[in-house]
Amino acid sequence: MDLSTRYLGLALRSPVVASCGPLTGRLDTLAELDDAGVGAVVLPSLFEEQLTHEQLEIDAMLSQSAEGFGEAMSFFPDLSDYNTGPDRYLDLVADAKERLSCPVIASLNGTTEGGWVRYAKLLEEAGADAIELNVYLVAADAEATTEEVEARYTDLVAAVRPEIAVPLSVKVGAQFTSIPASMQRIVAAGADGLVLFNRFYQPDIDLETLEVTPNLVLSTSEEMRLPMRWIAILYGRVQASLALTSGVHTSEDLAKALLAGADVAMTTSAVLKHGAAHVGVLLRELEHWMAEEEYESVTQLKGSVSQEATADPAAFERANYIETLSSYTTPFRT
Ligand SMILES: Cc1cc2nc3c(=O)[nH]c(=O)nc-3n(C[C@H](O)[C@H](O)[C@H](O)COP(=O)(O)O)c2cc1C
Repeated sequence: MDLSTRYLGLALRSPVVASCGPLTGRLDTLAELDDAGVGAVVLPSLFEEQLTHEQLEIDAMLSQSAEGFGEAMSFFPDLSDYNTGPDRYLDLVADAKERLSCPVIASLNGTTEGGWVRYAKLLEEAGADAIELNVYLVAADAEATTEEVEARYTDLVAAVRPEIAVPLSVKVGAQFTSIPASMQRIVAAGADGLVLFNRFYQPDIDLETLEVTPNLVLSTSEEMRLPMRWIAILYGRVQASLALTSGVHTSEDLAKALLAGADVAMTTSAVLKHGAAHVGVLLRELEHWMAEEEYESVTQLKGSVSQEATADPAAFERANYIETLSSYTTPFRT
């Protein structure tokens, strides 16, 4: 069975990619993921706030301004528990590159253009095989129009693109008015791949302290339907690699992602729940299913139930709404 796939122009041995998360932030767990057969790993994001903070710190030290330094400190969210800052991050890229047999993708998170995008170059120099730009943008400003908000994505991609020679993927949430049009624009700005979709975490309110608190719940398989639909619609229509992220837990989820048209399926929650070895289970079960269905390769599988390939393209659109509603059967009541 040939499980190999191409993603961002890279030849991967398998279609399961370990997406950003705690397990891709440590060399020992990265090695476990590699041993379990992942096609590639994406290291946790290095955040714009960390990078601008470092620059502000340097500026403050150079100008010997205690006031400037204090101000710089106040911009810095507490990321120290999550990753260890820019220098250690570059070391992690280099160490992962040396230790792992699969490609290593580094991730940069930010929403504005600025000096921090030069880190893309440093990540490449440290050995990253590709850069994933994680644009986690909560468009809360009522003065900013849709065009202005969307221009932030394309401006950012256009700013990072010339910094690097390696492929660039862009990870986005699902909140666009027209996903196909917006994705086309991101690709036209220079993205080689789209990672669909990031999960936007919703904050909670603590009823005792009345504070707004972070709330991270791991995904479930249900959530893969949203990216699956849009990958199925985008397949063959955008000139970019497609990665499905959110809700890939089982080999069934993995098979569906590929059938819809994903080049790779990414996983974070499932490996956090079951450990790195779960990747091996996903791949063995996928092979088993492919053999039963008489598929010989992932390439053959990819996109075979995309919108352009399926006998019923409307099933990915509005027709599905009516069918879904009428498919619900109320339990019989006496
Ligand atoms: C604890 C944790 C940390 C994460 N950190 C990052 C990150 O640094 N950058 C990023 O792009 N995504 C991050 N993610 C999102 C995952 O990469 C992934 O896109 C998301 O969890 C959906 O996939 P899943 O359903 O397989 O978990 C994180 C997820 C979790 C659970």
